[in-house]
This record gives sequence, structure tokens and C-alpha cells, in this order.
Amino acid sequence: MDHFNYRDGELYAEEVPLARIAEAVGTPCYVYSRATLERHFQAYREALGSHPHLICYAVKANSNLAVLNVLARQGAGFDIVSQGELERVLAAGGDPAKVVFSGVAKRPDEMARALEVGIKCFNVESRPELEVLNEVAGRLGKVAPVSLRVNPDVDAGTHPYISTGLKDNKFGIPVDEALEVYRLAAELPHLKVTGLDCHIGSQLTEIAPFLDALERLLLLLDRLREENIEVSHLDLGGGLGVPYRDETPPAPFDYASKLLERLSRWDGGERLTLLFEPGRSIAANAGVMLTRLTYVKPGETKNFAIVDAAMNDLIRPSLYQAWQAIIEVDSRLDRASDVYDVVGPVCETGDFLGKERQLAVAPGDLLAVRSAGAYGFVMASNYNSRPRPAEVLVDGDSYQVVRRRETLEDLWAGESLPGESQPGSA
Ligand code: LLP
Repeated sequence: MDHFNYRDGELYAEEVPLARIAEAVGTPCYVYSRATLERHFQAYREALGSHPHLICYAVKANSNLAVLNVLARQGAGFDIVSQGELERVLAAGGDPAKVVFSGVAKRPDEMARALEVGIKCFNVESRPELEVLNEVAGRLGKVAPVSLRVNPDVDAGTHPYISTGLKDNKFGIPVDEALEVYRLAAELPHLKVTGLDCHIGSQLTEIAPFLDALERLLLLLDRLREENIEVSHLDLGGGLGVPYRDETPPAPFDYASKLLERLSRWDGGERLTLLFEPGRSIAANAGVMLTRLTYVKPGETKNFAIVDAAMNDLIRPSLYQAWQAIIEVDSRLDRASDVYDVVGPVCETGDFLGKERQLAVAPGDLLAVRSAGAYGFVMASNYNSRPRPAEVLVDGDSYQVVRRRETLEDLWAGESLPGESQPGSA
């Protein structure tokens, strides 16, 4: 459930008509709903109830400071994959003690910064990374909390680009090698084993692969226990899917309850803190992207609705052939309905937001691309020298621009002509 609904034919975000925002802020722009973000976060909270847990929102899904701040105020922890994300969490008022650091290529300087601010845990993805972390922690006189990200080799049944838990993916330590790497982690002097982690993929629409992964992790925990290597938390990653079209993924409540139920049947399960790293299921349907129709171009085989947003603003349709709903912001207008490919101004055939969509529109009309709150703005680029869009947060009957639209000058800020020196350049 989200807070983007029609009222008398006009699309609203919470109590604010989206047309009003587009008028004031311009298009394209992203609009997020605070109440929806909070609701999605609370669904995880409620499912986990009194079981010890920490919900570490995956910053990569939407890293706007305002979004992070809303979630931090709800008590969220954060899953980060770079120092940039760490600094964002800190700037947004997030608690470093609730941060887990994932990613296959953490650099020593990033590790040092994370140790300095005191993060909860490093999700270590390889033996060499473990050794470097030990060295960095030793140099700083610290002990690094670690959890190994294990690759349980389960098929998440999702798009190959976003499936991460199979043997031939670059992520994690193969489950069969994990025991040996845990032994090493337990021996290294500047590390403390605190957890076990996995993340099997994104946009999963079934609970079964998560339960399969949990089963394999519990077997590993049994082996670790035999060797007196105790972990205090189990991190099951993110990955829960959302309805973009006709998918029917389990609700966060059902998903979390099922995993908790299995865990409760494992000896000591009630004491094991459960971590999740949800991104999409919190942010995707808490946002839309608004775009205005520039031209209608009838073609011999197709009609094109040319809008002012493009693949540089929202790349999911082009990159993954992802389907996101595109709807009229004002459905009261008297327009003939037709089937269109909704395309942008970028010079690529792959630049589309949606294909074969039934729309009743004319130039100047506003459209909303739904489910754009996750992996939307964060994946935007300046391709074709297009300034990135504004971001807006709606809260009840008010709204705030939480990132201004980039200016044309922003496009070349930091660049210089040959022979011209720039501060900070070599
Ligand atoms: N934890 C780790 C270690 C991850 O790699 C990811 C996502 C998450 C958590 C969050 O997963 P979520 O709950 O959002 O599924 N750009 C793609 C999605 C890439 C996901 C990468 N990893 C898309 O637009 O579909």
C-alpha cells in the first residue's frame, strides 16, 4: 500500500496534488511520500516484534539525505557499499553503530573510516578482504567486527543482472569454503567474528529461495558452533520484491514472519539478532517520477509519446527491460486514448520509459512513472548533458524540494580547459 492515489481524477501524493508540485518544481522530478516510506519500514518492524532485530535499509536504493533521515528517525540501521554512502548516512543523522558495510571491493581507506566512526559490522566477501581488514584494524589499534557474506548457491529466480546468490556470481564466499574462512577470521588478532550474512538477489517474488538460503546458513551455524565460533547476528540481506505490474510478492510482514518462524525452531534462534537489508521494498513504491509530454509523434507502426524524462533520469526500463506503470496525472482531461511507446529525448533507440502503453494524453500533459522511489534517481546520470532532476519529499499536505534540480553550470563544474588550472588538480 502506498500514498499515491487519485482523488476526483487527479493524482495525489498524500494530501498534495502532483500537478501542483510539477508546476512549482518543474519536470522531470522525483516525488517521494514520507508516510509510505514509514509504513514500509514499520511493516518489517511489526513482523519482527520483540525478536532482537535491526533493519538496515540498503542506502543504494535511494540515498537522498531526507529519505535517510526519515528512516533514521524510525530507528533504521543502514546497509552501505561505499564511503560515499557512509558519509551520507552520517550527514543524514544515522547512527554509525547501526551500519553494516557490504560490497566486494572495500578499500583500506574506506575500512579505516568505517572503523573510525564505529560501524556495527563489515560484511566481508573474500579471504583477501578479510586479511586487509585485519591489517587496517591493527594499524588503527581497533578490532573490526566481521560477518562473512556467504554465497549459499540458491537460485533466486530473478533477472540475471540482479541475482547475486549463485555460484558464478562475484558475490560472497562459497558456502563450502565459509567454514575455513571463519576459522581464519577467528584467529586473526584484529577481527571479531560477530555475524553471518547473505544476500541472494533482488526483486524476489517468492519466499522459498530465502528459506532455502536460511536452511543452508543454519547448517553452517551448526558447524561453526561445533568449533566454538559463535555469532550473535544473522543478516539475511535484502531482496524482497515489490509489485511493479502483476507480481504478487509476499508482504514484508509475511516474509519476515516466515523466516522468524523457521529461526525459532533452531536451537538458540531466539537469541540470534536478525538483520535485514531491504532497499526496494521500502523505497520503490514510495516514489514516482513526474514527466511532461513534449510531443506526440504518430508513426507508421507505432505512436510515440515523447516526454521530457529519459533513460538518464530513470534507467531501469532501458537497462533491465523493467516494466513500471505510467499513468496520467490528470485523468479528467478529455483526450483520445491510444497506444504509445513512451520515449525520452536521449539519442539512443534504447531510450524508453515504457512500451505499448494505453494513454489518453496530449502535449503538455503530465505523466507519473510509478515505483520509481528505488533505483531511480540514484542511477541517474548526466548523459547527453542533461541536468539531473529535482527530488521532492511530500509529508501530509506539504512538500519540500530535498534536492534541487541540477543547473546547466553544474554539468561542467569541476572541468577545466587545457592549460587552465583547477583547485585540487595535479
Ligand atoms: N544488500 C545487498 C548486499 C545488496 O547487494 C542489495 C542490492 C540489497 C541489500 C538491497 O536489495 P533490495 O532489497 O533493494 O532488493 N539496480 C537494480 C537492483 C540492484 C540491487 C543490488 N543489490 C534494479 O534497479 O532493479
